[in-house]
Amino acid sequence: MTVTANPPRMAFGAAPPGTAGPAAAARLAELPEVEAIVPSPPAQQASVDEVLAATAVTDVLGRLDAELVALAPVKQRIREIAALLVIDRLRSQVGLASERPSLHMSFTGNPGTGKTTVALRMAEILHRLGYLESGHLVTVTRDDLVGQYVGHTAPKTKEALARARGGVLFIDEAYYLHRPESERDYGQEAIEILLQVMEAERDRVVVIFAGYADRMNDFFRSNPGMGSRVAHHIDFPDYSDGELMAIAGLMLGAAGYRLAADAVPTLREYVARRRGQPRFANARSIRNAIDRARLRQAGRLFDRGGVLDRSDLETIEPADLLASRVLAAGGGPDPGTAKEG
Ligand SMILES: Nc1ncnc2c1ncn2[C@@H]1O[C@H](COP(=O)(O)OP(=O)(O)O)[C@@H](O)[C@H]1O
Ligand SMILES: [Mg+2]
Repeated sequence: MTVTANPPRMAFGAAPPGTAGPAAAARLAELPEVEAIVPSPPAQQASVDEVLAATAVTDVLGRLDAELVALAPVKQRIREIAALLVIDRLRSQVGLASERPSLHMSFTGNPGTGKTTVALRMAEILHRLGYLESGHLVTVTRDDLVGQYVGHTAPKTKEALARARGGVLFIDEAYYLHRPESERDYGQEAIEILLQVMEAERDRVVVIFAGYADRMNDFFRSNPGMGSRVAHHIDFPDYSDGELMAIAGLMLGAAGYRLAADAVPTLREYVARRRGQPRFANARSIRNAIDRARLRQAGRLFDRGGVLDRSDLETIEPADLLASRVLAAGGGPDPGTAKEG
């Protein structure tokens, strides 16, 4: 095929002097852009700053830092993935090979360590950097993928993948897909379909497997094909008491509340005790505790009645925390009936 270059179109379609006329101008306007048919040679330089400005990814990374306490290794991995994609774009700008990397991931850690929250941010980053078309997150568990009867699993799994296409499929407690103890397990069928799509459509959907670290390791050991297709294994550690206090501060601030000075040690005591009780869920337990403290604060102010000032309305007092069963006299609640609060 030969490509014939047209004479360059005049800037803004203006007719050259002497040839002016509406017909000439209209003909000129119809000429295709020269750049569209003659590929320009690849640039010799590409600018990181331009890509960062165009994608606003620095903004997402900055918010990740500011809005999530701790998680330094997780933030570091996200930065590395963002850097990989930025450099990949620059490589393609200067004409170097740029094969889209595989970005399926596993997020392992105990409940409430931020896996879902980070997956949402990851989807946004992958979208901004042009890796994913839309950047939405579809969260599923085994029941959304695996049917009860023969012939039900494939349509369910395919439907979930279709919903996630363009974004991220987040499979929570992914190891439940694999049930070695049951003879006729349709989970294996879901795994086969996932494997196939993870390979064939790796640039159209990113799969993130989430759950407890030990069970996930067993899952990948029993399904080596799956493990080998996961490019990034990211571990979410438990938060320390101090980190949970900082998370509480962030959550309270975001909701327009603050702790009274003498409520700080009360909350610290709460955090330390809650950790030792059943169903402790890291930052989620903190969010639940704050929700309940807000309820108690509202009840306290409501009962008091009269005129309330701004400081009354925004302050969580020790009493709002002390009413919690976690801090009730006599130590922790009966493990069988323990509830957060
Ligand atoms: N590092 C963190 N900083 C601030 N809030 C956090 C952090 N990690 C988790 N959270 C909050 O704790 C709650 C539980 O987090 P989530 O992402 O659902 O945990 P997981 O998916 O690991 O169970 C959410 O409300 C989330 O916003
Ligand atoms: Mg979660």
